Amino acid sequence: MSFTAKIHTDNLTQASYHALVVPAFENSAFPRLLGEIDKAWRNALSLSYKTSVPTKEGEITVIPSPLQKGIKNIVFIGMGIKDDSTYETVRRAAGNVARNVRKRNISRVCFLAELFVPPDADLEQTCVALVEGARLGSYFFDRFKTEKDTHTLDAAELHLPQGVKVREYVALLDRVLTLTTASIMARDWGNTPGNLATPTNLAQLARDVAGEVKIGCKILERKDCEKAGMGAYLGVSQGSHQPPKFIILDYKPGRFSKTICFVGKAVTFDSGGICLKPATDMEWMKADMCGGISVIGLMRTVGLLKPSNARVIGIIPACENMPGGSALKPGDIIKTITGKSIEVINTDAEGRLTLADGIEFAIREYRPDAVVDAATLTGACVIALGTDIAGFWTDDEKIASALNRAASDTGERVWRMPFEKDYLELLKSEQADLRNVGTKWGGAITAALFLREFAGETSYCHIDIAGPAINDSGWKSYIPKGATGYGPRLLYHFLENWLVD
Ligand code: BES
Ligand code: ZN
Ligand code: ZN
Repeated sequence: MSFTAKIHTDNLTQASYHALVVPAFENSAFPRLLGEIDKAWRNALSLSYKTSVPTKEGEITVIPSPLQKGIKNIVFIGMGIKDDSTYETVRRAAGNVARNVRKRNISRVCFLAELFVPPDADLEQTCVALVEGARLGSYFFDRFKTEKDTHTLDAAELHLPQGVKVREYVALLDRVLTLTTASIMARDWGNTPGNLATPTNLAQLARDVAGEVKIGCKILERKDCEKAGMGAYLGVSQGSHQPPKFIILDYKPGRFSKTICFVGKAVTFDSGGICLKPATDMEWMKADMCGGISVIGLMRTVGLLKPSNARVIGIIPACENMPGGSALKPGDIIKTITGKSIEVINTDAEGRLTLADGIEFAIREYRPDAVVDAATLTGACVIALGTDIAGFWTDDEKIASALNRAASDTGERVWRMPFEKDYLELLKSEQADLRNVGTKWGGAITAALFLREFAGETSYCHIDIAGPAINDSGWKSYIPKGATGYGPRLLYHFLENWLVD
C-alpha cells in the first residue's frame, strides 16, 4: 500500500480537497477558519455544527458540499475536551477518520492541522501525529482474500497556515512515512500465518530489507549455530521441519562511538512444543514473531534515517516451536553459547531459550554498550499490565528514561517492572545452572530475570510486548485487530533518545 503525505498552504476557499477534516471539541465555538466556506455553503456548516455534530471522541460527521466545486466534504471528528487532548488524542482522531472515510471511498483526506494542536503542544508534532494516525488507521490486510479491498486511503494531506517552512514539514513527514512503513511491515508479517511466515521467509525478508536500505545482513544456518554452540536456540527449533535461521542485520556507519544490539523474539509459530498449548486461540501464536519483526522494522528505519555515531545491530533468532518427534522434552538439559546449562521444565517457555543464545551471541560478537530485547514473551505480562502496555525491565536508568520518553512520544506505552532478585531462587535447578520457568506467580518477572542471566555485566533491557503486539478484539482507533505493529516506532525513538543522552 503506497501512502503519501502532502502539505498545502493555499487559501481554504480555493482548495478542492476530497475531505477537509476539522476537530470538534466539547463546548467550542464554530471554527472561525471555516467562516468563508460556511458563507459559500449558505451556513450549512455552522448550522450542523451547532445542532448535530457530536464532540464525543471518535464520532465522525461527514457533511457533503452543496456546491459543484471546491472542497467536496467537511469531516468533523469528535475530540472530547480540548484541555484534555494530547498528541495521542490527535493520533486516535486521525486514525478514526482514516478508517471511516476509507470505507466511504474517500481516498485522500486533508487535516486542518492548526485546529488540532493540543494545549502546550506544537504544530509540527501535531502534524506528525495526524499523519501517523491516518496512515496506521487506513490499514487493512487482504493478502489472502480473492476479492481485494478496493477502498484505499492513499494520502494524508495537511492544510497549514501560510508562512510555515514547508521544506521542514516535508522532511518531517518523510520521516513519519518511514517509521509508519515499519509499523505496517510489522503488522503484515505478524498477520501472516505460520505456513508462510517461516524462519526461511523471514530470513529472505531480512535480506531484501538489507538490500533495500543498504545495511549488512548475515544469516546463520543450523550448522553455523551448532558450531557457535547455540544449544538453547537450536533446542527450540529441533521439533520442527522448518530450518532455523539466525538473522543478523548490521548498520555500521563509517565512524561510531557506541554499539547497541537489539534482539527480537521470532518464534514463527509457537505451538508450545511437547507442552502443547490448548487449541483455543492457538492461532494467535502465528504472531509470536512480533519482537523479531519489530527489530527488522527498526533496522529498516535505521538504514534509512541513518542515526549518526552508533553501530546498530539487529539479531533475530528465528525458528518454530513444534512438538515433532525430535522436539525438546521436559527435563531435557541444553547449553547456551557460553556453556550455561538450562533444564527445560516447560517447552512452552521457548522464547527465553532462543533469546538466551541471541543475547549471548550479541555480547560475544559485538561487545555492545547495551542490549535490548523485544519479545512476546509471557501471558503473565498481559495479566499484569493488560493488552495495551508493554512491561520493561532494566537496571540502567539511562535506558529506562530513554524508553519512557519514546513511549510517550509514540503512544506505544510501556511500564517499568522490577528485577526482583529474591525471585531468582525460583529459577534454581537441581541438575543445571537454571531452569526455564519459575512458579506460577510473577511469570513475567522470572522470565526477565532468566534473560538477565545471559547479559552478564552488559547494560540490558528486556521489553515484554505480548500484550500490545497482538490485539484479539476489534479496532481501537488507529490500531487494528490482529498484529498491531507495536514496536518499531518505539524502538527507533528509544534509540534516538539513548544516543543523545
Ligand atoms: N508466546 C508465549 C507468550 C504469549 C502469550 C505471547 C500470549 C502472546 C500472547 C510464550 O512462549 C509462552 O508460551 N509463555 C508461557 C510461559 C509459561 C510456560 C511459563 C506463558 O506465558 O504461558
Ligand atoms: Zn511458548
Ligand atoms: Zn512464545
